[in-house]
Amino acid sequence: MSESQRELHAFPSGGVAVVIGATGGIGKALTECLRAGGQFADVVGLARGTKPALDVTDEETIAAAARLLGEREEPLRLVFDATGFLHDACFAPEKSLQQLDPAHMAHAFAVNAVGPALLMKHFLPLLAGDGKAVFATLSARVGSIGDNRLGGWYSYRASKAALNQLVRTASIELGRQRKQAVCVALHPGTVDTALSAPFSKAGLEVRSPDQAAEELWQVILGFSADDTGGFFDHHGKAVDW
Ligand SMILES: NC(=O)c1ccc[n+]([C@@H]2O[C@H](COP(=O)([O-])OP(=O)(O)OC[C@H]3O[C@@H](n4cnc5c(N)ncnc54)[C@H](OP(=O)(O)O)[C@@H]3O)[C@@H](O)[C@H]2O)c1
Repeated sequence: MSESQRELHAFPSGGVAVVIGATGGIGKALTECLRAGGQFADVVGLARGTKPALDVTDEETIAAAARLLGEREEPLRLVFDATGFLHDACFAPEKSLQQLDPAHMAHAFAVNAVGPALLMKHFLPLLAGDGKAVFATLSARVGSIGDNRLGGWYSYRASKAALNQLVRTASIELGRQRKQAVCVALHPGTVDTALSAPFSKAGLEVRSPDQAAEELWQVILGFSADDTGGFFDHHGKAVDW
């Protein structure tokens, strides 16, 4: 990005940034990247293990965190959602239809789609009313319907596709009230975290959380209102829906 583009797309100085999922691989790295950069007056990290705790499957915890942020004098400039679910001790991504499990599917949708939708419900109204303000949520390229050539991973793919539609829909509503706001889904690339660890294989380009965070931050810096409603990768390139 050139110096003049950077100035054109700059965040006003000060303001508050919030990272949700700040204890995860990418969320923690992004929180540190934002704190080191000094762009914002404060960078708040929220997660299930912070005070206040925020669990995306518990709307009251989202509402309570939003109420606290709403009381601050500094406007909210950036909300970055780095939460997500792919696997745990009980569930692995499905390789075949025969492995579909309603409880697993419901959990994937609760964390990857309904949770971020509730974050948008409570946090988008808090975004600064003038000047650049961004809501970004981590989706995944495997949520792209147009890019799906391998199949499998039904719950994760479908929940991220639902997330993309929710982001697009919310961006339209947001744009009616906040002309300079940006609401986007981002693909972080393959990043070395607990989420991706069981699936890393030779030949796949895997980057460190720090590198991914720096790339995502540069992409966010480059956004203007024209980008709202989009789905972008860590190079800032639009991803097929
Ligand atoms: N890593 C990759 O290669 C990759 C690729 C494409 C997309 N992504 C996406 O990037 C995002 C971040 O992934 P990551 O690699 O950083 O994974 P990670 O290290 O496993 O982090 C996941 C984060 O989600 C949080 N989380 C899970 N369930 C939650 C809930 N119910 N309420 C609140 N927070 C919850 C976790 O919180 P706790 O710390 O409390 O467990 C953790 O902070 C995900 O959306 C993922 O789908 C990652």
